[in-house]
Amino acid sequence: MSDHSVSESTPVPVQPRVAIVTGAATGIGRASAEIFADRGYAVVAVDISTEALAWTRDREGIRLLVGDVSDDAVAAEMVAMALETFGRLDTVVLNAGIARRIGWQDEDAMALFDRIMAVNVRGVVSGIRHAAPAMADRGGGAIVATASTSGVGGDPERWAYNASKAAVINLVKAAAIDFGARGVRVNAVAPGPTLTPILQGGAVTQEHLEALRRPIPLQRLARPQEQAEVIWFLGTAASSFVTGTTVMCDGGITANAGIFLPPSAALLDIHH
Ligand SMILES: NC(=O)c1ccc[n+]([C@@H]2O[C@H](COP(=O)([O-])OP(=O)(O)OC[C@H]3O[C@@H](n4cnc5c(N)ncnc54)[C@H](O)[C@@H]3O)[C@@H](O)[C@H]2O)c1
Repeated sequence: MSDHSVSESTPVPVQPRVAIVTGAATGIGRASAEIFADRGYAVVAVDISTEALAWTRDREGIRLLVGDVSDDAVAAEMVAMALETFGRLDTVVLNAGIARRIGWQDEDAMALFDRIMAVNVRGVVSGIRHAAPAMADRGGGAIVATASTSGVGGDPERWAYNASKAAVINLVKAAAIDFGARGVRVNAVAPGPTLTPILQGGAVTQEHLEALRRPIPLQRLARPQEQAEVIWFLGTAASSFVTGTTVMCDGGITANAGIFLPPSAALLDIHH
């Protein structure tokens, strides 16, 4: 049968859009992968943790890649997987990250610093390095990195994390300049304290949660889905003229000059 037998009105099957999400096993990454999948994207979910990725098994249109984002080869592999499995690449969410409290004099301070920089910064560099040209070659796309309020100010004994997230905020500016002319936008979301498994898993006391809530003008912690909505905005055409920026999703915490606490509310979780 020749191609001519296909009438001009025969609908051409539309390939679903495709997103890669790193750190997709839990928390903000999982919420992002779910939002993209729920809204019709095919998703490549990347994480270092195999068992935590189990939630994806029952979901159609999600492919798993188990790997460490600090390994440049993993970034190459995730991009190749998206293109080979789903035939296109529209959005890349570089979200995998780790945080550690480190004393300046700790014996393992420099090893921990190197690890945090490797995952939080090198991982983002690798992701951009491999994804941006692939998207540029196919007409463009959007990259969203997960920064943090910790990238715009310091936290006690979290200097390595602070340095890594500040680097992410400037990296998206640099990459936005380099890839803008080829149709690739690069932005970041900067979450404030967010109720991810790390915070809910029992490692953190009620007292600590209360201390986190107190300086936040909205007087509650974020839900992972609230971060994912910002990632969705930055990763899709809704933000088509936005590039090189970081959107604070922090309940107003960085709006405070830092001298006075905002008026407090009695409830831990205030709904809007
Ligand atoms: N939860 C918060 O309050 C908060 C605030 C600001 C920024 N962030 C940032 O948001 C991002 C997501 O964090 P979260 O709160 O959802 O935490 P999380 O620990 O629930 O999720 C992080 C995910 O990244 C994965 N991961 C860690 N190292 C990896 C590696 N080397 N390679 C591949 N995957 C790796 C983990 O297995 C985990 O699934 C991180 O970059 C974090 O720094 C979180």
